[in-house]
Amino acid sequence: MAEAYGTGWGTFQTLIPNVAAALRQAKSVFVLTGSGISAESGLPTFRGVGGLWRTHRVEELASPEGFARDPVLVWTWYNERKGAHEGAQPNAGHDALAQLERFSRDFTLATQNVDSLHLRAGSRNVVELHGSLREARCTHCDARRPFEAAGLPLDEIAHSCGGRWRPDIVWFGESLPAAAWQRAREAASRADVILVVGTSAVVYPAAALATNYNRAAFVAEINPEPTPISDRVACTLRGSAADVLPRIVEAISRDETV
Ligand code: OAD
Repeated sequence: MAEAYGTGWGTFQTLIPNVAAALRQAKSVFVLTGSGISAESGLPTFRGVGGLWRTHRVEELASPEGFARDPVLVWTWYNERKGAHEGAQPNAGHDALAQLERFSRDFTLATQNVDSLHLRAGSRNVVELHGSLREARCTHCDARRPFEAAGLPLDEIAHSCGGRWRPDIVWFGESLPAAAWQRAREAASRADVILVVGTSAVVYPAAALATNYNRAAFVAEINPEPTPISDRVACTLRGSAADVLPRIVEAISRDETV
């Protein structure tokens, strides 16, 4: 059950040192992130105000069936998203998680994001649960090709083997990459502290990593809005990732732990 909620700086003053203390003592840290961490880099979330799935049809743009029906439409959309990712910069939340990794003996960051901003911020042990927009792969054979900054040219969607190039990401109805899922599940299971940042925690199986594989870990959620897991975590910090995460890292650096 939830022990504490942070709703403003007053409450944060108590909660942040608690989270920092838990992180400082942890032998193993697991972080799960979602699109909310990139919101302050100017990238839209999926379900919030201005969210992608409020204005776009998920079944047309993010499903194997939608791609089979209209690959040009799908690539046009992903090329636009790739352009937005290229134009965005990691924010203070991404930077703080990269810094946190340097304090930690065993640190794994599993992200549902395909924007590469954690890697660009310097995080190293990153598991991309939903793939990335760095590469395209063939629907038919094992071929891969880099996904250019300008996107995949729309006249190059056909692959010579008879398949089609598609973004190397996970679409609805598809399984997560097996190796990524196993790495993330193992890391979540052995963690002493789990941070859940900027995700609505409604898309499975990724959301299960927050609370389903480890009943002993201290779980802290960082999100301005409540989510279905808010009542099941030890601590909820109701703030933005770019505000809260640097404060936690600063508290660890200053050893303001309790
Ligand atoms: P959602 O759009 O479902 O949720 C974004 C979450 O971020 C919400 O809970 C917001 O309250 C929170 N948020 C917004 N701004 C924030 C900020 N500045 N700091 C911290 N949190 C903030 O996005 P995801 O949970 O990432 O999957 O969605 C999960 C998956 O659903 C995505 O990976 C994608 C999507 O369909 C696929 O495409 C397979």
